[in-house]
Amino acid sequence: MYSKMNISYIILIGFVILLYIDSSASDHDDDHHDGGSKCFSGDSLIQLSNGEYKEIGNLQSGDEIITIDQSKIISTEMIMMLDKQISKQALFYTLRTDSGNEISLTEYHLIPIINSNGNEQYLFAKQIKIGDYLFVLFNGKLKYSPVINITIEMKKGYYAPLTMKGTLLVNNILASCFANAYNHHSAQYYMAPFRYYYKFARFTSLYDPFNVNKTEGLYWTINIMLHFGRYFRSDTLCL
Ligand SMILES: *[C@@H]1O[C@H](CO)[C@@H](O)[C@H](O)[C@H]1NC(C)=O
Ligand SMILES: *[C@@H]1O[C@H](CO)[C@@H](O)[C@H](O)[C@H]1NC(C)=O
Repeated sequence: MYSKMNISYIILIGFVILLYIDSSASDHDDDHHDGGSKCFSGDSLIQLSNGEYKEIGNLQSGDEIITIDQSKIISTEMIMMLDKQISKQALFYTLRTDSGNEISLTEYHLIPIINSNGNEQYLFAKQIKIGDYLFVLFNGKLKYSPVINITIEMKKGYYAPLTMKGTLLVNNILASCFANAYNHHSAQYYMAPFRYYYKFARFTSLYDPFNVNKTEGLYWTINIMLHFGRYFRSDTLCL
């Protein structure tokens, strides 16, 4: 536990140094921030493990929420909000499934579908087509339901919760916590320092270690990670 913690600090310090190198090397950084990570619309509902639903904006660090992992319904913990904008508007892709569920995500947010080989594949919201099968929790059971309608609309307020598993159910539809990354699994890998820090903070009974209640905007360390991604792994992130 402690050695992982030290590693995560070293990684975080590494990000800070990289940010410094990156920002002193170029002055055109601000163009990239509009892309941000964006995410889910403020009217999204998240189901907690105890069966209750919470509006996405009211999620707290430590909330136990349900998600789907390898076709099983499991519980995962909410770590932090990667981005939280109460009053800003964004363009959302609203996908409606045959089961009557609906999810609104920004264009570069990742969502898994079942591809033609029957495997799980993460796509950007804007790549989803009518007929693609999404993972839906329907009457407490996992179901694959095709998209029957896609609308593009402006909505006010957007939120990006990060969970331990890197996924969550939004209005009972499975989605990734990540946007702008080409690969969901590598994005989850890069978030490891946050998971370690969160576990450590909980262990030392520091609740809300990332100030979910007070912070609005893109979490500062995420900005650093976006820089990091752009600097070294431009193949994994599209910013
Ligand atoms: C999708 O829903 C919208 C709004 O309800 C409707 O105007 C549109 O015709 C629908 N599109 C399709 C392809 O069914
Ligand atoms: C955050 O705010 C909510 C509602 O305002 C409150 O119930 C909760 O206890 C707060 N959490 C922390 C960690 O301060």
